Amino acid sequence: MANTETQEQQEPAGRRGVADRTAVVTGGGRGIGRAIAEVLVADGARVAIFDIEVPKEPVRPDQGANTLFVECDVTDEQSVDAAYSRVESVWGGVDILVNNAGIFALEPLEETSLESWNRMIAVNLTGSFLCSRRALPHMRRQGWGRIICMGSSAGKTGGAKDCAAYGAAKAGVMTLAKAIAGSYAQWGITANALAPALIETDMVAGIADLADQIPVGRLGQPADVAQAVRFLAGEEAGYITGEVMDVNGGFLID
Ligand SMILES: NC(=O)c1ccc[n+]([C@@H]2O[C@H](COP(=O)([O-])OP(=O)(O)OC[C@H]3O[C@@H](n4cnc5c(N)ncnc54)[C@H](O)[C@@H]3O)[C@@H](O)[C@H]2O)c1
Repeated sequence: MANTETQEQQEPAGRRGVADRTAVVTGGGRGIGRAIAEVLVADGARVAIFDIEVPKEPVRPDQGANTLFVECDVTDEQSVDAAYSRVESVWGGVDILVNNAGIFALEPLEETSLESWNRMIAVNLTGSFLCSRRALPHMRRQGWGRIICMGSSAGKTGGAKDCAAYGAAKAGVMTLAKAIAGSYAQWGITANALAPALIETDMVAGIADLADQIPVGRLGQPADVAQAVRFLAGEEAGYITGEVMDVNGGFLID
């Protein structure tokens, strides 16, 4: 990699937000990822959803040609490569990557099998590595890119209880964002992470009684996280990189 490498295209002047960008949102079939996809599409981006499960409902607003679902397991190198190739064949290179796909489990450490540990790391951390590595060459050549990794407050604190594998994976993905930030800023690429907590999705079903521990007095909604992604993915956030942004209603103030 040499920073004298010829750039693929000249960036048009006067861009705003994410308009006319191509984005990939992993795990965008439901929950937070779905909300992110909807916000980016509504703001004029073309959005490809990479998910291991086919979404039950179409992304809203239904922008037809501006959304694309690609079945993809982010832990599988060939699956990630094939999914990127599909997007590139339809829209060209990917400008914005949101590494959102994740899984969560409450398991006491002594009862965590190696298989369970490895799967937690594979989806939450290795998947973000594989997708970022596949995304970066195009971003570097064009001199512009945005990578946003979905961390968690558990990646800062280790989690409330019994989620060592998840917390460790999320600490890893937040550090991955910082590592990309430092290495790729010279090519106009920013990389940031979010550290949400207690967002009302399928992932936290059953632990909703924690709402009374949140200073703002409610659980977070997927849209709360999507608005943070919208900002970090946009043109105007080009001077913010290597940052971990909390989206937690004051649950963890650090
Ligand atoms: N909900 C919360 O309170 C919370 C808090 C902090 C961080 N997060 C993180 O936010 C992200 C989204 O969480 P959510 O609450 O929307 O969860 P969710 O379970 O509703 O959605 C996760 C999505 O990821 C997809 N996915 C899982 N494994 C995959 C794989 N191998 N390849 C591709 N896609 C895969 C699922 O099919 C699903 O669509 C996750 O990374 C999660 O760890 C959530």
